[in-house]
Amino acid sequence: MLPFQAGILQALPQHASFLSFSVKPIADKDSVIKALQALSTLVDGERVVLGLGASLLQLLGQQIAGLHDFSGIPGSLVPLPVTPAALWCWCRESERGELVHQGRRIRQALAGVFQVQQAVDAFKYASGRDLSGYEDGTENPEAEAALTAAFVQGQGAGLDGGSYVAIQHWLHDFESLEAMSGAQQDDLIGRHKSDNEEFDEAPVSAHVKRTAQESFTPEAFVLRRSMPWSEQSKAGFHFVAFATSFYAFEAQLRRMCGAEDGIVDGLFSFTKPVSGAYFWCPAMREGRPDLAVIGL
Ligand code: HEM
Repeated sequence: MLPFQAGILQALPQHASFLSFSVKPIADKDSVIKALQALSTLVDGERVVLGLGASLLQLLGQQIAGLHDFSGIPGSLVPLPVTPAALWCWCRESERGELVHQGRRIRQALAGVFQVQQAVDAFKYASGRDLSGYEDGTENPEAEAALTAAFVQGQGAGLDGGSYVAIQHWLHDFESLEAMSGAQQDDLIGRHKSDNEEFDEAPVSAHVKRTAQESFTPEAFVLRRSMPWSEQSKAGFHFVAFATSFYAFEAQLRRMCGAEDGIVDGLFSFTKPVSGAYFWCPAMREGRPDLAVIGL
């Protein structure tokens, strides 16, 4: 059994918060280590999934092969904001109230050393739809294929069961979407909102044409765990994709942003990314994240 963080593979929770943190400028290495040790007692991999950023490992004088910060896509025809962070927690609950307590405990453990960079209030919409109404996750790999797509295997203890997660916070413009007919909206995605059926005559700009995982060489599979979010009058989609490296995400994003063939994904006509960051999600050992591989 691969020792991965179980929440990555599980179905989406009803409620979630995505918290990312930066290191306070005054914090030294010892205090960072202490805070991480305190945090790791709260991380069960299921109700709290943990990710570490490249800058944090650098501060600790450590390295994980393949982990680097997101740095955009050269030649992109649309803005792809780059917002690296040191630490990332995905809190997953069936009760919204529990999120408050989880968040409080995490902030306490990190107090004085890390500061909140982004706090996203996310939720499951219907059976797993984006707020545009489209069902998300249909083409996610399942069972054995999901394990293969999401978790490192065959690299040795401490690395096996780990995962690399790409995050993009997308802000929707519902007025633009609603100004389009149903058929125009379906063309943006390449699936019918009504029955989630994929259709052959979708334009090349359709999102599912841009990202078709088998169409890349090598194939580019990811395990997506994105969730809708809202904050007062703003709302959108918090894109979250786990994989064994950042290759698949970058290959898909390169096609989406027009860098490959000058065609921009239809999604950009009603939504845009406002953040972008990469993290490494450690494996588990004895119910806690296995941080031995980074010297903790
Ligand atoms: C606002 C942002 C986004 C929305 C609303 C969205 C929505 C969707 C929807 C509705 C589908 C079709 C159903 C499914 O197979 O899941 C889909 C498929 C997919 N999306 Fe996205 N998506 C977004 C961003 C992204 C980004 C940034 C990437 C990667 C860079 C991505 C990668 C994929 C992949 C790989 C598929 C499956 C394609 C296939 O193999 O058929 N999506 N997305």
